[in-house]
Formats: sequence, C-alpha cells, structure tokens
Amino acid sequence: MKISKTNSLRGEINVPGDKSISHRSIMLGSLAEGDTIITGFLKSADCISTMNAFRAMGIDIEENGETLVVHGKGLNGLSKPEHIIDCGNSGTTTRILSGILSGQKFPTALTGDESIQKRPMKRVIEPLSKLGASIRSVKDNGCAPLEIEPQPLHGADIRINIASAQVKSALLLAGLYADGSVSVTEPSLSRNHTELMLKSFGADISAGTADSPTAIITPGKTLHGQRISVPGDISSAAYFIGAALITPDSEVLVKNVGINPTRAGLIEVFKNMNANITLLDEREAAGEKVADILVKTSELKACTIKGDIIPTLIDELPLIAVVASQAEGTTVIADAEELKVKESNRIDLTVNNLNAMGADASATDDGMIIRGKTPLHHAVINTAKDHRIAMSFAVAALISSDSEPTEILDSECVAISYPEFFDDLASLK
Ligand code: S3P
Repeated sequence: MKISKTNSLRGEINVPGDKSISHRSIMLGSLAEGDTIITGFLKSADCISTMNAFRAMGIDIEENGETLVVHGKGLNGLSKPEHIIDCGNSGTTTRILSGILSGQKFPTALTGDESIQKRPMKRVIEPLSKLGASIRSVKDNGCAPLEIEPQPLHGADIRINIASAQVKSALLLAGLYADGSVSVTEPSLSRNHTELMLKSFGADISAGTADSPTAIITPGKTLHGQRISVPGDISSAAYFIGAALITPDSEVLVKNVGINPTRAGLIEVFKNMNANITLLDEREAAGEKVADILVKTSELKACTIKGDIIPTLIDELPLIAVVASQAEGTTVIADAEELKVKESNRIDLTVNNLNAMGADASATDDGMIIRGKTPLHHAVINTAKDHRIAMSFAVAALISSDSEPTEILDSECVAISYPEFFDDLASLK
C-alpha cells in the first residue's frame, strides 16, 4: 500500500468493534447456558480465529448480517476438536484459550502462525500449572504448539509478574473449573474486560482496581447468555486520533469508542501533550464506558510515559511514538519492555521506521526516546506483518514533507484487527 501526504483530514468515522471484547464475547458466550447475541462484533482475522476455535469444539455460531448468535452449551458443553486448534496470529486466542482448555475433560493442542510460534507462552504455562494444569510446549521452547491434558484444577492465589490481561484472563477462566477460588494479582491493572463480562454473565467475580490489582473468581455459578453491544475499539480509533492531531487543518469525530479507563491511557497522554481532544456524549453500553471523540490539529509538546499507565495504552505505543515525533521536546517511553514480545519487536520496528522517515528516535531497554519535532519524509516501511506498525506508519505517511508516497510493506496485515483501515483513512482525506 502506498500512502501520500494529505493537506487535511476531516469528517466522521465509526471504527470497528473492540478486538478484546469481541474475543471474550465468543468465549463467554460459548461457556454460557443459552444464547449470546452480539452486535458490533469485530470480524477481523484474530477474532475469526477465536470463532473457529469454538466452532471446532462444537459451538454453533450463527452470523445474521451484523449480529452474531452464539448458542452456548454451558461450562461443560465443549467437545474435543478433531484437529489441532489454529489460533492464527492471535496471542489473545492462544493464551486465554489455554486457560479455558486446561479445565476441559478432553486433551487438546493449539498452535498458530510463525509469529505466534515465537511468542512467549511460559507466562501462561507456569501460572496455570500452579492451578494443576498440564500444558506442554511441544518443542520445549516455551512457545506454541501447546498440548493440554485434562487435569483437576485447584483454587490458588497467583501473583503474576507482568501486567497482562491475557494471562489474567487465562487464569480467571481456568478458575471457573477449579475446586476453589482463584485470585490473580498483577503488578498494575491491565484491561478488565474479562472481569466486567464475567460479572454480567453471572459469575462470582471481584475485579481488581488500580490501587489493588487483584481479581478473584469463585467457581460454582452458571454463566447465562447475554446481549452484548461491542463498542468501537480505542486501539483502532487511536490511528485517526493521532492522524488528526498531526495533520494540518484537521477535525475528525471518531464515534462510539470504548473508553474503559484500563484502555484509555492514550487520551490522558495526548491531553498531557496539549492535544485538542474532547470527549462527547459519554455513556455506558454493556458495562463499558463509551464516548464520541472529537480531535483537532494541535501544537503538541513532549511528555514522559511510564509506570502504571503503560498497560492502559500498550498497543498504542507505536502510534504515540509517531505522534511524539511531531511534539516539541523529548518524549520518553519507559517500562514498556512488553513491546518487544508483541506481534513483532515493536520497539525496534517503531524506532527504525521512524528514523527511516527522518525522525530522531532511539530504542532503550524498556522503551524509546523520541526527540521532536522533526519533519518526516517518505520511506519504505518494514512492518514485519505487524498490523499496528502498518497502521501507525500509514499515519506518519500523511505528513510526509515530500510528494513521493510512503510504501507500507505487507499492508494486508491490517486485517488482523482492522480490515477496512485503508478505506476508512481514505474517507477522511
Ligand atoms: C489483550 C491484551 C494485551 C494486548 C493485546 C490484547 C487482550 O496483551 O496487547 O493486544 O485482549 O487481553 P497482554 O495481555 O500480553 O498485555
């Protein structure tokens, strides 16, 4: 895909459904008694991997236009899949599913694409083993393929050393099958969609807070099918917010965006950077906070991003780095070593691509330093097939100082989380 500079961005956009919530809606819908009716579901490659996994375990998922109906079979209603489960590129599918599968009465195996087979799975294998689960990394390298044998699970208090919603969710969902309560304490609070959704399905769950990041699930309750309206994904909205901030003469309204505080660190950071962002019509849908977000071109200043806010904007950091290249001063991103083990090494790729476009960025052990503001010029962007790198640098391409287009390699990878991204971006030009 080639993206040229633009003089302004204007208009309204409805971003697709939240990826994290979409995954969970299929998972909990499958484990519930009765139907779960989902609107706003994100039909992207990652969420389709989750759908296919549950279909392979006997769950009927109907697609009626924009509505999905998951015919749940209850906590013990899944059946043994015929083949190894293919989680594609989806870390969320692989990790959370390994928790659910640990509690089943049949053996399973799961794997994914080249990127998934390099991503760390010890972070779920080890804490799930403390509940009694039997999970084996087939190549003994701590990565997928994984083989899971049925074992009785026990209640336990687990402390994890990474703030990870995938790990926390794997443990909480395994906890549905344990013989006692499972508590999960994380170093700082990660996204809490699993906790919110479990509560609405009728589970006995106490969610953690920013001050006390411990979630506790007590098994024994039946889950009941729900109606779920999936809000727009703030991680997808981020590209339009960032683009409108740095493109001259821009005014963009991003509608129906989930602003759950465990996800919305980006808004706080941009506001600290002097961004002209207004939240309109703040409301609640299916237990999640939602708003429309109005963004105008802004004179940005640098800031420091570190500590507890990092898990609330982890997927947005490549985009934030692009925006920081247009802020006056030195932006420091720290405590974000997790970026190295996402779909790609997002520290190295972000820094290398920024510098290829003329920015002044350097990688650190746990983040990046970006000195702004520097004009950007066109370049060829190596995405390593990472959707978030592709979309972040499509934004950077909009403010190129020359008229040659920027080429985003392997740009079809946006289908992982946002299949219509390039069309939606073009609609604002
Ligand atoms: C996700 C959690 C985060 C995030 C990922 C989606 C989820 O990963 O980066 O895109 O849906 O639970 P970690 O749990 O590894 O931080």
